[in-house]
Amino acid sequence: MTDLYAATAPEQQPAWQTLTRLAAEAGSRSIARLLDDDARNRRLWVPAPGITLDGSRQRLDAAVLDALLALAAQQNLQAAIQALFAGAEVNGTERRPALHMALRGQPGDFAGIVDAGGQAIEPAVLETRRRVLDLARSVRDGSLRGHSGKAIRDLVHIGIGGSHLGPELVSEAIGPTPGAPRCHFVANVDGDALASVLAQVDPETTLFLVVSKSFSTLETQVNARSSRSWFLERTGSAGAVEHHFMAVTANVGAAAEFGISPTRVFPMWDWVGGRYSLWSAVGLPVAVGCGPEAFSRLLDGARAMDRHFLESPLADNAPALCALLDIWNSNFLGAGCHAVLPYAHRLRRLPDYLQQLEMESNGKSVQRDGRPVGVHTMPVVWGGEGTNGQHAFHQLLHQGTRAVSADFVLVADADHELPDHHRWLLANGIAQSQALMAGQANDDPHRAVAGEHGSNTLLLDRLDPHSLGALLALHEHRVFCQGVIWNINSFDQWGVELGKRLALPIFDQLGGAPAATQDAATRRLVGRLRRPPH
Ligand code: F6P
Repeated sequence: MTDLYAATAPEQQPAWQTLTRLAAEAGSRSIARLLDDDARNRRLWVPAPGITLDGSRQRLDAAVLDALLALAAQQNLQAAIQALFAGAEVNGTERRPALHMALRGQPGDFAGIVDAGGQAIEPAVLETRRRVLDLARSVRDGSLRGHSGKAIRDLVHIGIGGSHLGPELVSEAIGPTPGAPRCHFVANVDGDALASVLAQVDPETTLFLVVSKSFSTLETQVNARSSRSWFLERTGSAGAVEHHFMAVTANVGAAAEFGISPTRVFPMWDWVGGRYSLWSAVGLPVAVGCGPEAFSRLLDGARAMDRHFLESPLADNAPALCALLDIWNSNFLGAGCHAVLPYAHRLRRLPDYLQQLEMESNGKSVQRDGRPVGVHTMPVVWGGEGTNGQHAFHQLLHQGTRAVSADFVLVADADHELPDHHRWLLANGIAQSQALMAGQANDDPHRAVAGEHGSNTLLLDRLDPHSLGALLALHEHRVFCQGVIWNINSFDQWGVELGKRLALPIFDQLGGAPAATQDAATRRLVGRLRRPPH
């Protein structure tokens, strides 16, 4: 393993003190005045593969930008980026590297990088990708058949969190090719989620894909078992299970115990976090529904962003600059939440996806060495598609009392044949960032809009697999840069374990087991909801 980069508590860096001083002065300058500085604006217009970052409507001048870049240098961000790509143990608590970039690499990109057992990672990645593309082709052309000889018409993807959000986002954003098998996603343990999908499919023509890195996540296990029971009740053939169930997992043994043939298991690796796993076999529904070509283009777009991230100086580096602007907004201008506003109906799931990526990665309160952080880390990420949000929550953005940062995601050229719609969509997206910035004076305080809220615009050339891959990879790297500046581990998620453990005895108590050791509030709720089996 390569040595880790050195970073320290950010507030101890000289640049942090400079930024604190500059933030105190920031209130005296309007964003509209800042925009008079062409040189500043040019620095905040950053072309990257498939995407341009326009940060010119942020509330900062050249001095702040210089101080943010100095902070990045003091936290050794460039060295950290190199360490990430070299396979350093960036996930200290789990003693793992984070090599999701290898999943979209070309032969040679990650040659020489080995896993904890000393195995080269690249051959396994390339072989798995070949299998994913082959499987997608055989499902799409009808050569892969169910146990009764019929072609597959439906794929039911069962997985949650990082094993769900990415493939669903991309499948909806790119859309199925004509005649492709339908892809359904079941994540929630709520029986309505599974029941509504099972009501639409035929066991003879359905493939179930159980996606779980651990193969132990409760929701996925419960949904997979119920799907298998449903399938067995209808086919009456245990032997048919292996024709209709596949898995993506790092726990091949558990998948085999479930009844999935090892030849139908696609591997996952401990050096890929769930929320970074879209690019692996987890993305199979994209290859099946949108096509192998689209999946390959998605990976190419992400790889192009990887190269940009690895090779660009920080001043021209879109993911790094996004992260520095985030730090400015949240740590210095007090934004406690960040709104993701895609002006693209097909990107309506982007806020959900980014919620997991950003909040599960950087919702942390200790530094890499376990000491408490001395500054705020990840703000709350939320949002929704424009223009719908304008008629719902934008009121709070314009006249609420809290500081909010925002990203507008715009797409330059639409794929549909309704040009006026696209022009209206873009006009509204641009107008909203303008309104947030400029506000509007009015003698009536109810009608006055304060403005001076900064925002980014992320401008995609098109909403195609390549640009989408680049957009998602940009966010992965943005999260990494934030984590380096905050000196936290972005790749673990210990906080989610407690609730999972607590649910186990409550499940039994809801079924009739005594709840005497529970606290009074839990006892009362359990008592009210208890339904012992008949
Ligand atoms: O509970 C959180 C989590 O572990 C996520 O990090 C992960 O993406 C999700 O659950 C699903 O995990 P698995 O792929 O192991 O089922």
